[in-house]
Amino acid sequence: MVFHTNDIMDVSNGLKEYEVVYLAALVGMNVEEKNRIIDHLAKYMAPGALLMLRSAHGARAFLYPVVDTNDLGGFEVLSVFHPTDEVINSVVIARKYPMVLLPNKCCSDEVQAFKPLSNHGNNMIEELVVEEN
Ligand SMILES: C[S@@+](CC[C@H](N)C(=O)[O-])C[C@H]1O[C@@H](n2cnc3c(N)ncnc32)[C@H](O)[C@@H]1O
Repeated sequence: MVFHTNDIMDVSNGLKEYEVVYLAALVGMNVEEKNRIIDHLAKYMAPGALLMLRSAHGARAFLYPVVDTNDLGGFEVLSVFHPTDEVINSVVIARKYPMVLLPNKCCSDEVQAFKPLSNHGNNMIEELVVEEN
């Protein structure tokens, strides 16, 4: 196992090599700092890569910062687990949206995030079912 020590905000294209990024609870000590780091990860992580974040729930938030899943722009939240035993930290697992080229009414070559579980994605699935019938 190889360890690199660096401020995550100084790591950009290197992040693309990893299928999973594990963000420790104290990386970002308040909401603003944590969100800046999450935005940075959304920008540089490989499309489709997994982000595992440690968070906190209830009174445990006195000890560790809480990750609000609404702040995970660029990621699809897959799972949130709040332990009820002696374990302090909650776990959030999210996947960075794959980037695909979608035709756009105003700019045909604009790169957009493909959000398979968003309303748009569901509509696409419904449209496919209609076409099948
Ligand atoms: C409480 S320890 C991690 C404990 C444990 N490894 C875990 O699973 O969360 C928090 C770690 O985050 C690192 N850290 C904090 N801010 C960071 C940043 N901006 N970039 C990289 N590492 C950071 C600290 O150096 C420390 O090693």
